[in-house]
Amino acid sequence: MNPDEAVQAILDYHKKTNHSVQSVREGNVRLDFSILPRLYKLYRRAETVALPEDVEPSDVGALAAIAGDAPTSSGVPRIEDVAALLKLSAGITKWLKVPNGRMAFRAASCTGALYHIELYLVCGDLSGLPAGVYQYGAQDNALRRVRSGDYRGALVGATAGHAGVASAPACIVYTSVFWRNAWKYQSRAYRHSYWDCGTILSNTLSVAGSRGLSAELVTGFVDDEVNRVVDVDGVREAAVAIVPFGGGSGAVAATEAPARLNLETMPYSPKEIDYPLIREAHAATSLDEAGTAVWRALDGGAQAEVGAPVTTEGPAESVERVILRRGSTRRFQLAPIGEDALRTMLTAAARPVPGDWPCIVSRPLNTLYVIVNAVDGLEPGAYVYHTEGGELELLHAGDHRFMAGHLGLNQELAHDAAVNVYFLTDLDAVTGAMGARGYRAAQLDASIRAGRLYLSAYAMGLGATGLTFFDEEVTQFFSPHAAGKNVMFLTLLGVPQKRRRVMPE
Ligand SMILES: Cc1cc2nc3c(=O)[nH]c(=O)nc-3n(C[C@H](O)[C@H](O)[C@H](O)COP(=O)(O)O)c2cc1C
Repeated sequence: MNPDEAVQAILDYHKKTNHSVQSVREGNVRLDFSILPRLYKLYRRAETVALPEDVEPSDVGALAAIAGDAPTSSGVPRIEDVAALLKLSAGITKWLKVPNGRMAFRAASCTGALYHIELYLVCGDLSGLPAGVYQYGAQDNALRRVRSGDYRGALVGATAGHAGVASAPACIVYTSVFWRNAWKYQSRAYRHSYWDCGTILSNTLSVAGSRGLSAELVTGFVDDEVNRVVDVDGVREAAVAIVPFGGGSGAVAATEAPARLNLETMPYSPKEIDYPLIREAHAATSLDEAGTAVWRALDGGAQAEVGAPVTTEGPAESVERVILRRGSTRRFQLAPIGEDALRTMLTAAARPVPGDWPCIVSRPLNTLYVIVNAVDGLEPGAYVYHTEGGELELLHAGDHRFMAGHLGLNQELAHDAAVNVYFLTDLDAVTGAMGARGYRAAQLDASIRAGRLYLSAYAMGLGATGLTFFDEEVTQFFSPHAAGKNVMFLTLLGVPQKRRRVMPE
């Protein structure tokens, strides 16, 4: 596929998976619970390596860590930090009582609670952990050894020498197991690979910041090489992001990616359904060596400041504790939130995302559009948020609760929440400037910012949830300002109605 065909293929994918009233009605197939996928990746034979269980909270205020404003150094992570990063990104944090037993509750929210994102640690020798490639098993908060030895050089090679990867003692590679989400969401699940990886990435970046560890997001890499390092096939399970973290371990030289091991794993379901659109979308956004070199050469590096850094004065709850107690709001009160609270959450969301995408289109890649249902001090209506000056510009005033409920796929949550925040990007401009890979960057930029909104709501004692939406109707609602843009993510913020009953881990 040449670059123009790849751009067309990903734009077609996006269009074909837009939700409309008609597509939702027609696509509403009965779920087949006899093939409900397993929630965990289980190796038939792989050595288990224990991780420290307890997460020590840091003393950095959660909001500064969430916004990426906590001071970081370039220290070598301790095994306790590695364990905290993995557990608070994708681990089990508590158990929910359900009628026929209990359900594991994860650190980050995920569409359909299907948890299709897997995490792999690729590290040099750390104190308490020998160099290797390890898969993180959420089911028992332990590592499975995939490879012994130092494979960081293969990631340096696969990222065309990304400076952060080349100086990091360890990296986390995030993959998506497409079928585990497509079981429910069919072809639209490809978008969820980025949505659900993004909410996890917000946690990873916040927890790294709160522990003083530098961390950044790498989206430009030779897919086939990274997939080989973590021993996945690139079709049913594929790498979608890399986060190098920490420093102080010296430069790592590029090496060739190893051959696949084909370690045997347990099937996820008795049978899997193939969704060609997912395969095609992933192939269209994949990079080879030449494409990765171009991406790296255009890497914008440090981003312009947006707004003032978020700081918290005096003792404040740590982001570790915020993550341990979060859980998506299932019902909102109609009650208002304060304007200051909304502005703090928007500021945190708008701070620069440490991503490696080319600096050739506007940053941030997404514009935030806000439906204010109930905010003390703000007129109800539709707004656009100007990230640089932090202003909320009123697009059209009015009580839009019913419209909000409709746009959020006719779900009460969107009607009841105090605020609906939509992330919109111009996919033609993004892919025109960056190629088809820009699609992944735009999705991740939105979902990481949305994850920050979500976490900052919890840090301030409010509630939040992600939600899906009727794509083109949302664009129309915010037009003419939003004309030509595409919806990437929706987060609801408000006052939660009732707490779920959960058991400690
Ligand atoms: C991107 C995204 C979209 C979501 N969309 C919906 C939705 O349309 N309706 C809904 O009730 N919940 C939605 N959720 C919430 C998930 O169902 C919830 O995260 C999942 O059940 C796990 O629960 P937890 O977040 O409390 O851990 C969404 C979550 C995310 C991250």
